[in-house]
Amino acid sequence: MKVPITIPAMTQEMIDAAVNALRNERMSLGESVFKFEAEFASMVGVKKAVSVSSGTDAIQLTLEGMRVPKKSTVITSPMSFIASANAIMHAGCVPRFCDIDKKTYCMDPKKLRRRITTKTTAIVPVHLYGYPSDMDGITEMAREKNLVVIEDACQAHGAIYHGRRTGSIGNAGCFSFYATKNMTVGGDGGMITTDDEDFAERVTSMRHCGRMKGSNYDHDIMGYTTRLNSVNAAIGREQLRLLPEWNERRRAIAAMYDRRLKNVGDLKLPLGPTADITPVYHLYVVRTQRRNDLSEFLKQREVQTAFHYPVPIHLQPIYRQMFGYKGGEFKNTEKACKEVLSLPMYPGLSDEQVGFVCDSIIEFFGR
Ligand SMILES: Cc1ncc(COP(=O)(O)O)c(C=O)c1O
Repeated sequence: MKVPITIPAMTQEMIDAAVNALRNERMSLGESVFKFEAEFASMVGVKKAVSVSSGTDAIQLTLEGMRVPKKSTVITSPMSFIASANAIMHAGCVPRFCDIDKKTYCMDPKKLRRRITTKTTAIVPVHLYGYPSDMDGITEMAREKNLVVIEDACQAHGAIYHGRRTGSIGNAGCFSFYATKNMTVGGDGGMITTDDEDFAERVTSMRHCGRMKGSNYDHDIMGYTTRLNSVNAAIGREQLRLLPEWNERRRAIAAMYDRRLKNVGDLKLPLGPTADITPVYHLYVVRTQRRNDLSEFLKQREVQTAFHYPVPIHLQPIYRQMFGYKGGEFKNTEKACKEVLSLPMYPGLSDEQVGFVCDSIIEFFGR
């Protein structure tokens, strides 16, 4: 039985919406773009959502649009995809890392105070694998130190933290629609969410070359070309309608994994939902000392797995070169990167496939 780690969804409704947008809308900034933004804002529970062409651009534009000073330091998690830090560099700021909590894999607010300096202006917590960061601890520290908080919710579409959706808790939230995410549009895209209407207006101009509102050829802001096109927005609207059902299915799959894999070998399972936290399982990530062997064993069974991430951001060659990291700086992250293993997870995964993955893992540890 072949079990891929993920397959992006493609429904007839998504295809029809794309064709309809192609036939009937302006290709750029057509009506689907504005409807998708309004509907996304409503899902997150904020006043405004502004679409862009990637999650990376969402974070960069948010930092610039929030007027986070160039050359200031912005704290993020080293346990993330490299884009979390790249976006900070693109915005002209300096990424500084704060180690993770071992259980959540997200930034540990207890470690945050020691990482903040007089140059720090913002924090970018990452809701890794679709599990919300400890936003109470982070926002409390941000308030005390007068820092901007930008949620990297690129992996957390629809997750809930203490009754609020991720992307509605900080000053702004940033989402990705890359092809593996819980929402993919037609392959690439991003969204910025916020209650700050002036900021929303600024990033709306920035994503469209810095045009002044209502004008075509007057520009009063340094802008970029980073729009989400109408076809992608039309597909996004269909996906947004399906998101609650898809996330529910992800949680059901996670519950099956939890049940079958409890107390198997040295496996550590991810934190599950609580009364306060509803994760969206962008990934289902287990942890074991034997993850390379387990991954190889599963590959032979045609079960695809992956490491998210095998190398922490600060130890990526480019970050070593730029900042001189050598290893040993962020111990929880570095250890986790050697032990984490992502199992197949997507709404279309069947119960039989989940059962087969679990049987194979149990067989591996029983040998
Ligand atoms: C945590 C995180 N931040 C940022 C990004 C960047 O998003 P994109 O690939 O859409 O630029 C991604 C995904 O790729 C991500 O997983």
